[in-house]
Amino acid sequence: MTEMIKLFVNGEEVEVESGKNLIDALEKVGIEIPHFCYHPALGADGNCRMCLVGIEEGRPPVVPACKTPAKEGMKVLLDADHIKKIQHDVMELEFINHPTDCPICDQAGECKLQDYYMKYEGTESRMRVPQVKKRKVQDFGGGVIHDQERCVACGRCVRFLRQITKTGELGLVNRGDDCRVEFFPGRPINNRYGLNVVDLCPVGALTSADFRFKQRAWFLKRAESICHGCSKGCNIMVDHNKEKYEDDIIYRIRPRHNEQVNGWFMCDAGRMTYKSENDNRLEECTLAGTVRPLTDILADAQSRIEKASKALFLVSPSASLEQLVAVQALAEKTGAAVSAFSDGYIVKDDGDDFLIKDDKAANRTGVDLLSIAKSRTHFDNMAKEADVFINFDNDLSRSLSEEQIGKLFKDTWVLNAATHPGHLGTAMAGKAGASVALRSWSEYHGVVVNCDGIAQKFVGGVMKNIERPDIVEIAAGLGSPATGAAAAWALVQKKIPALAEFGSFLELPAEGVNLTDNEAGK
Ligand code: SF4
Ligand code: SF4
Ligand code: FES
Repeated sequence: MTEMIKLFVNGEEVEVESGKNLIDALEKVGIEIPHFCYHPALGADGNCRMCLVGIEEGRPPVVPACKTPAKEGMKVLLDADHIKKIQHDVMELEFINHPTDCPICDQAGECKLQDYYMKYEGTESRMRVPQVKKRKVQDFGGGVIHDQERCVACGRCVRFLRQITKTGELGLVNRGDDCRVEFFPGRPINNRYGLNVVDLCPVGALTSADFRFKQRAWFLKRAESICHGCSKGCNIMVDHNKEKYEDDIIYRIRPRHNEQVNGWFMCDAGRMTYKSENDNRLEECTLAGTVRPLTDILADAQSRIEKASKALFLVSPSASLEQLVAVQALAEKTGAAVSAFSDGYIVKDDGDDFLIKDDKAANRTGVDLLSIAKSRTHFDNMAKEADVFINFDNDLSRSLSEEQIGKLFKDTWVLNAATHPGHLGTAMAGKAGASVALRSWSEYHGVVVNCDGIAQKFVGGVMKNIERPDIVEIAAGLGSPATGAAAAWALVQKKIPALAEFGSFLELPAEGVNLTDNEAGK
């Protein structure tokens, strides 16, 4: 239980959490203290002086908020004239050599310097001498581009690489107006988390080579999602936009703070998963090699399932809980077997001791909670018996060779429902089967359970021009008792009692539900 304390800000009493510095304590109650160098994940460095606040009757009377713990009865001054003058003067100092290039800066709209200028400075420059010129568009490695002139020398990037990745590629060199960030000669950024420095940089000094000049920040729509790149389930923001006459495109993925999962960060590979959401997607539904309406394909598949001596449904270990139960319920109703065989999703020794996991599936824990078989032996045995095989977006080509897949299903009618081509290799080639183009994770809502047993909701905000169904809709079309999202969620609640108190997936708390804290979740 968090202890609360009372203090005064500009004479008004506020209640805040104890044990935090003034920046964090007051931010929680909606009071901003401007700052550059402090970051909750990196601690206080005390170098920028932007966070100076007054303490009435305090000794000393002016202190850096980042290094000052909130204390009971403290009288904090944020709008006293002498504090406003400090803020104004620090900003003026920052702007002496800062280029006024907001119109061509990628950080515009998300820049602390820009925001603080509007709030705390707002006057014209008094400088009448030429600005110090520094290097621009410097390739820092790892997809990071540096503009020395925009840097406020806060040191966040340097501290991230020293404290978090412990790779230490960057350092602050020289002093005064010659102070700048450099990488050590011959050692540019080279680690799997380097792009986090772009998010940490409070200004436009570090930008992503991948995102630069693609979109203005204020045009982007944001969807709160979960990375599907591995079983860690980092919390992310999917930034996307649909321009007139164009498709809805994802332009970048950024980390979203969740202290119990990924903190403030994510890996670079996870950021790049947006590319496969945009590109190389399956677009059409086909039956016996010709494009046909989805309803025809489902009707055909349903009658084949009914007549089959054995049907096998293969689900993906990255599917949402709702999708898994929808297919499972269909299998229970029709007497089909269901498997989540996905050995190839595990990339041995790829994980590390920070975020990246060997298991590249987003919901293997969910598969286990629903008791869906996933062993190779079970899958092989069922595949041998099956005369109808429906793949629900499992990328089987990760686990088996094309030859193995072709051999297993040579006499089987196959429906391949997938987001991308290639999940079954060439197993479909020349076969009178069917295929359905599916919605992907950035386009539907749901819940996945990460490797630590934390159930997390995600929202699919991307609306592609081509209407594709979700697996829950396909399963419903084939006769599953989970006739829609609400019915699927009700089934999830029956199978995972720890989720029973949440009327809809949207009611899950932002930080997720730790099912390992609750025996019922097992
Ligand atoms: S590049 Fe950005 S994060 Fe690094 S010191 Fe400069 S302003 Fe700070
Ligand atoms: S660690 Fe895993 S879940 Fe996190 S961003 Fe990387 S791939 Fe995504
Ligand atoms: S945030 Fe406190 S000195 Fe920089």
